[in-house]
Amino acid sequence: MGRTLTEKILEEHLVDGEVETGEEVGIEVDQVIAHDLTGTMAWLQFEALGLDEVQVDVAGQHCDHQTYQPDFKVSDDHRFLRSAAGTYGAYFARPGTGILHQVHKENFTAPGKTLLGADSHTPTAGGLGCLGIGTGGLDVATAMGGAPYYLDVPEVVNVRLEGELPEWSTAKDVILELLRRFSVKAGVGKVFEYTGPGVESLSAHERTVITNMGTELGATTSIFPSDERTAEFFERLGRPEDYVELQPDEDAEYDDELVVDLSEIEPLIARPSMPDNVVPVREVAGTDTDQVLVGSCTNGAYEDILPVAKMLDGREVAKRVETIVAPGSKQASEMLARNGFTAELMAAGVSVSEATCGACIGAGHVPASDSVSVRTFNRNFEGRSGMEDDAVYLCSPEVAAATALTGEITDPRDLDLDVDAPGFEMPDSYIGTSEADLIMPDEAVDDELVKGPNIDEVPLKDPLGADLTGSALLKMPDNITTDHVIPATQEVSVYRSNVPKLSEFTLKRVDETFAARAMDADGGFLVAGENYGQGSSREHAALCPMYLGIHAVFAQSFARIHKSNLINFGLLPLTIDEATYERIDQGDDIEIVDDAVEAVEGGREALTIRVNDDWEATARLDANERERELLAAGGKLPHTRQQFADA
Ligand code: F3S
Repeated sequence: MGRTLTEKILEEHLVDGEVETGEEVGIEVDQVIAHDLTGTMAWLQFEALGLDEVQVDVAGQHCDHQTYQPDFKVSDDHRFLRSAAGTYGAYFARPGTGILHQVHKENFTAPGKTLLGADSHTPTAGGLGCLGIGTGGLDVATAMGGAPYYLDVPEVVNVRLEGELPEWSTAKDVILELLRRFSVKAGVGKVFEYTGPGVESLSAHERTVITNMGTELGATTSIFPSDERTAEFFERLGRPEDYVELQPDEDAEYDDELVVDLSEIEPLIARPSMPDNVVPVREVAGTDTDQVLVGSCTNGAYEDILPVAKMLDGREVAKRVETIVAPGSKQASEMLARNGFTAELMAAGVSVSEATCGACIGAGHVPASDSVSVRTFNRNFEGRSGMEDDAVYLCSPEVAAATALTGEITDPRDLDLDVDAPGFEMPDSYIGTSEADLIMPDEAVDDELVKGPNIDEVPLKDPLGADLTGSALLKMPDNITTDHVIPATQEVSVYRSNVPKLSEFTLKRVDETFAARAMDADGGFLVAGENYGQGSSREHAALCPMYLGIHAVFAQSFARIHKSNLINFGLLPLTIDEATYERIDQGDDIEIVDDAVEAVEGGREALTIRVNDDWEATARLDANERERELLAAGGKLPHTRQQFADA
């Protein structure tokens, strides 16, 4: 049977299991990346593993989310990250070098490799035929140590592209079209693999725009074949040796198939406040606009900003519109400057920013109240811009430029601009280079960790104990999110590398006194209704309860990613039925009657709990053999540390 490209890369990297849809496999990781919000904890965890250096081919630490260093704690984090990269053999990209996915793409992404990133848009690399997967910092830390990455083999969906994009329709419109047709949940547990005759009409860069935003479909990742267009891109990047051709077998069997006729795609836009709330631009044309932002890891490349510069050349943006261009990398900035486009943008009334994520996470350029912001970014969730009731639209750079010119949302086809579109000329080579900003392992500035006062060691949990007792420290309703457990606000997130301090904020939004009570109790349980831990993959939402001594969470159901985070940090995720949930009160004494070690290691699913020494109920542990090993060891970190010590 023919193999898909995804299957080929998985098989090439397989170290555990069999590549069959739905089955868990362990794969070897070639490259890893992290950014400044995720990297601090990942490196603290790597330190706890006790290794001298990273064991992957390429490890990269970027500083892109908080480049303006608004607090000494952020600058301390950046210094710590530089010292960790230098000490353990990773490259370090200083603040201002650019967004991790852009910088990694320019310098290290290669077809056929596996890339694990502590950021959800790691699938950007899939545009170049690399299997890029976003995950938590702990997985990145253990992968850096050489441990396999475990995942359930996703369904592979064949997205067959036919035809060619018409003038003024772009790669951004292709992914917006998929979001319009499906939804932000359509891709859960799936890989979108692009095939068909339309593939060769898209440049390698355009492909990365599509795979970047495949994340918004909920996909594990997205991938394009590596072909002549990819070769051309590597040639321009000045690293042709990294190119290899990669295609699925002609008779590859897919789990599902979609057909997209590129010739039917028109300029699209996502309305507030969901990336799948997509309509043709013409349907919202005329909406007064106050701010236009071009940039992000989706559309911050030279190829994205060039059309904007050409469209604005010799013109002026509307007086009512604040227009900002934030290149995704310093390489893109340098090329724009060398080729004269920065001057054209400035002359047109654009503010050109340093290369940063910045506004994408509400760090700067927060929109005014009751205003419209049109952005080339990938997410417009309510409040993400930094303004609670924001109205953020997502579109291509061409639609953003047309909108900046008129001051209202505008379909570029309605402007009689004397520029050729979409065939903007690309340079023969990428003359800019961010090499000066990358500190490679052999140029390391530091050879030991530099920790400021806000950086503390990562706590390690003891192996699972046989007798688990304590009180129900907090009883919560349905749909508790990871934001309830540990919020991502600036006030809280500056303590991300200081677990004792950060833990003081645990579940504060539910109960002000929880953290203090948990510290006093020296162990206990959480009780919740349905869908506990929904929201993000934030690991601190498991790490902080672990630090506070929580043994287990009893819930009617768990959000999938949070459940695996609980296991990774050694907390038992135990499901209880509705009657049991109703019967347990906050403050009740709970005892797990079974020997917990025997039950977990022995593969037992049903555990007996005894409440107030009065009544009994059943709690269920749904975990596979590998997860049970992690739980018995006290979590993934102590488990991996032991494995490395034994090796
Ligand atoms: Fe940065 Fe936004 Fe991408 S925060 S990594 S530009 S999604």
